[in-house]
Amino acid sequence: MRTYNVALIPGDGIGVEVIDAAWSVLSAAADRFGFVLNGIELDWSCNYYLKYGRMMPEDGIEQLRAFDAILLGAVGWPLSVPDSVSLHGLLLPIRKAFDLYANVRPHRLLAGVPGPLRARDFDILCIRENTEGEYSGAGGRLHQGTQEEVAVETSIFTRRGVERILRFGFEQARQRRKKLASVTKSNAQKHSMVFWDEITEAVSADYPDVSVTRYHVDAIAARFIMQPETLDVVVASNLFGDILTDIGAAIQGGLGFAASANLNPVSRGPSMFEPVHGSAPDLAGRGKANPLATLWSSALMLEHLGEHLGSRAILDAMEKVTAAGEVRTPDLGGSATTNDVANAVIAQMQVSRSGYLRP
Ligand code: NAD
Ligand code: IPM
Ligand code: MN
Repeated sequence: MRTYNVALIPGDGIGVEVIDAAWSVLSAAADRFGFVLNGIELDWSCNYYLKYGRMMPEDGIEQLRAFDAILLGAVGWPLSVPDSVSLHGLLLPIRKAFDLYANVRPHRLLAGVPGPLRARDFDILCIRENTEGEYSGAGGRLHQGTQEEVAVETSIFTRRGVERILRFGFEQARQRRKKLASVTKSNAQKHSMVFWDEITEAVSADYPDVSVTRYHVDAIAARFIMQPETLDVVVASNLFGDILTDIGAAIQGGLGFAASANLNPVSRGPSMFEPVHGSAPDLAGRGKANPLATLWSSALMLEHLGEHLGSRAILDAMEKVTAAGEVRTPDLGGSATTNDVANAVIAQMQVSRSGYLRP
């Protein structure tokens, strides 16, 4: 039997609730399509930090190395642990340790979801650089506490890092509508972003079948909203990609929809799958979070593991549920719980006969 070991890191707040929902859907998909998922839950979180003084054990990364994939809910509980501690103690080190340089974030409007825009033609694949740039962590503070205090945050862009994310984007564009948008702020940032533009130009020579447009991040932010149909694959740096993908989520109908895969397409280490949203302290504990972003991320995980039928089945079932519009969490104006949505997706997966044959 095909068997996969999955590390589950629910994390904080609604992370726990959406991972619980996702695991029930994944288990149903495994039963239906004849594979086994061994889920090992790791309680690494802000609560773990309050007990042990760290976000994960000292050998946490080594523990994760043994898994086929990581499914993460959300990290951060600023009410008790500063974000600068929690994120730098868990989420960001995992992305870095396994060199998960491609953060793939699909944005598409699911059937039946109203969304804030009139444009219905919304299908953008954001490729966010995930290991360097503005998140390099280089910098520091001088003359702390004085009027002369200076804080420096240095963005580090390497030729290798920029080139590989652009190549990954071009490969994705080849499988889609063959259009790539390269995002910079090279009118203001004259070192790193001019460098990014030069590398875009050089790499594009290897992909003559893909049309490339360079956008400034401010202009493309407006374009996401005004003319999203003109965009296909969007490649951006770590910070710009972070911001653009919350805009993408909003256009999908909210943060409860946006999924992500943190990949290293060439290494053998585990990839990580997680919703784009955070722990939502304003919503946590009520069982009302929208789990669709995490279900979608779970489908990306199955796709990555080679379980294409299971992946497709989750996505199709999700979309049947949204199209029917009967089971909606409060972010969509409904009163359903997180688990109601998961159960509706499971029920839909079980009744769907067409197309899904046991392999
Ligand atoms: P957030 O994404 O947690 O919440 C922003 C808003 O979106 C809130 O109003 C929230 O209720 C809503 N929302 C988010 N997910 C939702 C869902 N599934 N269903 C319905 N509504 C949803 O962002 P924030 O408030 O800036 O961050 C809260 C904490 O999470 C912070 O500690 C932050 O650093 C952390 N965070 C973690 C991740 C991650 O682990 N990947 C991502 C983003 C933020
Ligand atoms: C995301 C999150 C993280 C990021 C934060 C919590 C560090 O916003 O995954 O989008 O900026 O990468
Ligand atoms: Mn973000």
